[in-house]
Amino acid sequence: MRVDDIRAQVKESPFYLYSQARISANYAAYEAALRGLDSIIGYAVKANNNMLIMRHLQSLGSGAVLVSGNELRAAMVAGFDPTRTIFNGNGKLPWELRLAVEQGVLVNVDSEFDLDNIAAAAEAAGKTARVLIRINPDVDPEVHAYVSTGLANSKFGIRNSHLQWFLDRIRALPSVELVGVHSHLGSTITRVAIFRDAAQIMVSFVRQIRDQGFNLRYLNIGGGLGIDYHHKGEKLPSPADLIDTVRDVVADLGLTIIIEPGRSMVANAAALVNTVTGVKTNGNKNFIVVDGSMSALIRPSLYDAYQHIELTAPSSEPEQTFDVVGPVCESADFLGKARPLPAPAAGAGLVVHDAGAYCMTMASTYNLKMRPPEWWVAEGGELRQIRRGETLDDHLRLFEGL
Ligand SMILES: Cc1ncc(COP(=O)(O)O)c(C=O)c1O
Repeated sequence: MRVDDIRAQVKESPFYLYSQARISANYAAYEAALRGLDSIIGYAVKANNNMLIMRHLQSLGSGAVLVSGNELRAAMVAGFDPTRTIFNGNGKLPWELRLAVEQGVLVNVDSEFDLDNIAAAAEAAGKTARVLIRINPDVDPEVHAYVSTGLANSKFGIRNSHLQWFLDRIRALPSVELVGVHSHLGSTITRVAIFRDAAQIMVSFVRQIRDQGFNLRYLNIGGGLGIDYHHKGEKLPSPADLIDTVRDVVADLGLTIIIEPGRSMVANAAALVNTVTGVKTNGNKNFIVVDGSMSALIRPSLYDAYQHIELTAPSSEPEQTFDVVGPVCESADFLGKARPLPAPAAGAGLVVHDAGAYCMTMASTYNLKMRPPEWWVAEGGELRQIRRGETLDDHLRLFEGL
């Protein structure tokens, strides 16, 4: 379907536009990559928590990776089997842990206090907590510092030199069962050899822990596979490339491998569709001003991330260099910098590609720009709204006595 035909039907702008078929294809690529391995695909809900997208991935057989109690509740509403979900995080709250243990979720141990809280939650729930220890393999993922999570200085995971303390403590806790180890190196990773280096380090931890009599069943290698944000025809690693790199490393250990893809499952399945408000210049720089902004899509402002931008219709205008900016009252409010584009007319359509992950979930109502609606082209080909746009009334309803 042409985006301009869809724009003619969708009255609000900006809006997120997804392809359900692309999500299915991304899931199928992971499934095929893992054939022959005992595995759990845990979709990282933080990437996109639209309930219809979650329900769709669940219906395809996905498990879920969660970083809050509300993500766990939403995953249950979407129908995920809690025993195929994993709860991560460096600051998990007592109520969140209690819910996770009650539901049989696999829980990551992130620190000394986290282990104590997990044990307390398990005792309160009258159940055994099945836990994985989050270890930092200290392999550099070569990504933006904000999405690098597996180095020794990370706020996530245990101090590796303290591993023995954790093992002794877990052995002494009757309500906690150690079933695996976990690592997550970071996000937007485009060199799969990095995963192999980490897997080898994790396997040596598995051996070390098994030697002490623990019955480890799971190796969780996290998420993090990057996608082709630049659209320059670069050949990036696929899920098969990722799994093949670690396959022989994990094969003879008899472990269930867990992977936690977020971005690579949903990012390339969506665009943010904007309408051009106008074009201006300050003498040095040209600007295309659109109705979308950092409120709807913050990755460029937050990470200096590149997301490819195109107009929705061909143009006979010559290309010029533009910053594509929104109306939010911040100089950080841009969707793209120094982009070669033909000057569009007011009302033209402009898409920001690869907006399916960490875009809508990070959207805010800053400047009271309300969160945009989400639509998808369903697998049958029909266009369907999958979340309505937020309204000012939604905002005003939160205040009493107006
Ligand atoms: C623990 C954990 N697992 C999985 C993911 C998903 O990563 P990605 O979206 O890069 O696949 C994240 C996100 O940063 C994470 O923190």
